[in-house]
Amino acid sequence: MNNNILRLEGKRVLVTGASSGLGAHFAEILSAAGAELVLTARRLDKLEEIKNKIHSAGGTATAIQMDVCSEESVVRSFQETGPLDVVINNAGISIIGSVDEMSESEWDQVIDTNLKGVWLVSKAAIKAWKTVNKSGNLINIASIAGIRPSNQLPPYIASKGAVIQLTKSIALDCARFNIRCNALCPGYIETDMNRTFLNSEAGHRQIKRIPFRRTGQLSELDGPLLLLASDASSYMSGSILVVDGAHLCSTL
Ligand SMILES: NC(=O)c1ccc[n+]([C@@H]2O[C@H](COP(=O)([O-])OP(=O)(O)OC[C@H]3O[C@@H](n4cnc5c(N)ncnc54)[C@H](OP(=O)(O)O)[C@@H]3O)[C@@H](O)[C@H]2O)c1
Repeated sequence: MNNNILRLEGKRVLVTGASSGLGAHFAEILSAAGAELVLTARRLDKLEEIKNKIHSAGGTATAIQMDVCSEESVVRSFQETGPLDVVINNAGISIIGSVDEMSESEWDQVIDTNLKGVWLVSKAAIKAWKTVNKSGNLINIASIAGIRPSNQLPPYIASKGAVIQLTKSIALDCARFNIRCNALCPGYIETDMNRTFLNSEAGHRQIKRIPFRRTGQLSELDGPLLLLASDASSYMSGSILVVDGAHLCSTL
């Protein structure tokens, strides 16, 4: 057994949506494990803050502006990244509303960010990996909402369900190119995305339905993240890793 199996020295990892929440936390954890980070999102000022935190802790990171909804932006950013070993599709948004009241632009915003964005970034990464690295590792941040629905989130649920299937499709198509693709499905973790909801009456009721009776901590994703990012998962591809305090097992 190699005791350093979860270490990431020598690996360059790109994280989308690294300007807040899960993505910012992932960047710091991956850096602490030895990786060199490429931080991407739309808010460059926020990325610079995370980059400075990583540098203060002795790590290495660069910040590149990228809008995952735009192929032009994704391609331009990938021209600046240099070779990558791991790409984490983490950028995502949610808009609350019912199927019949949601506008076309709200629907498109969620699907373009959560699903098209994963495809565009995966496309850019895979193109480079097929020609340059001859190997690669994609991690898609899906959600338990892609497996079991919760109320008033139709495009979010549709996008995350699709990301789970896209993960399996990429795993199948890219296995012969030595490219792996797995999905991490977190349950509820308090971030900018859901803070208002989780602190509401409806949010408290939701938390009571989680068998652990609490939301997850960001740090409770560290082990699963490092497993997928490192060579410890070298025979895993197309896997859907759920980290949710048994939420998906909650009683009917
Ligand atoms: N928190 C949870 O309970 C939970 C549970 C399951 C799954 N997830 C998933 O985890 C991921 C991160 O969510 P979070 O909770 O950390 O939310 P968050 O704090 O709101 O972070 C979302 C990130 O996505 C980035 N982003 C949004 N639109 C983008 C775009 N068009 N291009 C590039 N970046 C974009 C944002 O950066 P900019 O605004 O700077 O671009 C931000 O860094 C999402 O995919 C979410 O669905 C979260």
